Amino acid sequence: MDKSPNYWINKDKDINSKNFRCPNVSLFRFLSSLYFSIENKKVLEIGFKNGADLLEFNKRGALIFGLDINPEAVSHLNFKDKSRIRTSRCGKDSIPFKVLFDLIYLRDTIYYLSDEEIQFFFDDATKKMAKGGYIVVQFIEKDLLVEKSNPEDEINFNLFHNAKSELIFDEYNPIRFLSAKNIINAGKAANFELIASKRLIQSYDLHEEKFRLDRYLAFKVNNDHVY
Ligand SMILES: C[S@@+](CC[C@H](N)C(=O)[O-])C[C@H]1O[C@@H](n2cnc3c(N)ncnc32)[C@H](O)[C@@H]1O
Repeated sequence: MDKSPNYWINKDKDINSKNFRCPNVSLFRFLSSLYFSIENKKVLEIGFKNGADLLEFNKRGALIFGLDINPEAVSHLNFKDKSRIRTSRCGKDSIPFKVLFDLIYLRDTIYYLSDEEIQFFFDDATKKMAKGGYIVVQFIEKDLLVEKSNPEDEINFNLFHNAKSELIFDEYNPIRFLSAKNIINAGKAANFELIASKRLIQSYDLHEEKFRLDRYLAFKVNNDHVY
């Protein structure tokens, strides 16, 4: 059974939590490496949850739009123009705004979609891009458990070679690890070309044993005359 939608709908405790409200610096650094200037751009986040990144885009002068499967996320977002913030299930519903976007991004969200839903998302997004617009997706490639090391030592890359796969998130969370190849091919099939990628390797515990490999991919429409 597809557990993803049920896991998120009306998850109010998660939304109300005071945790995890900082914007993701890795996202803004990636955009800056792409020379994406935020001011006056139309930016859509799909799966915004607490909205930390979306509100940061607003602060930096973008015209923001948000979609989330969870109505609690939509009603809790502290943003006055609610016409631009809607409940919608990515992968099943088309993007409901009559707008061409300079940036559509999904962070920690695309892996709740099946392969067919990911394709639906790219096919739909291709009709919603402004000239030269970007799609940015971020996902988890792997969670790894490595052997404990001495904090005084230099990094030992063999630790990753010998690492075991172990989930950092709770077992009920229907995250699936995605391969970049599948996402890139889904993009290609919808006429998007990959223009950049970024990888983060970060430990999530206090003793550098639990590592997460995160990936960002950036796409552009292949021909600017498509829409
Ligand atoms: C792990 S949170 C990520 C929140 C935020 N993007 C971030 O980076 O912190 C995943 C979010 O995606 C939403 N979501 C999950 N599946 C979705 C779908 N099919 N369509 C729209 N939103 C979805 C969830 O409700 C949740 O708010």
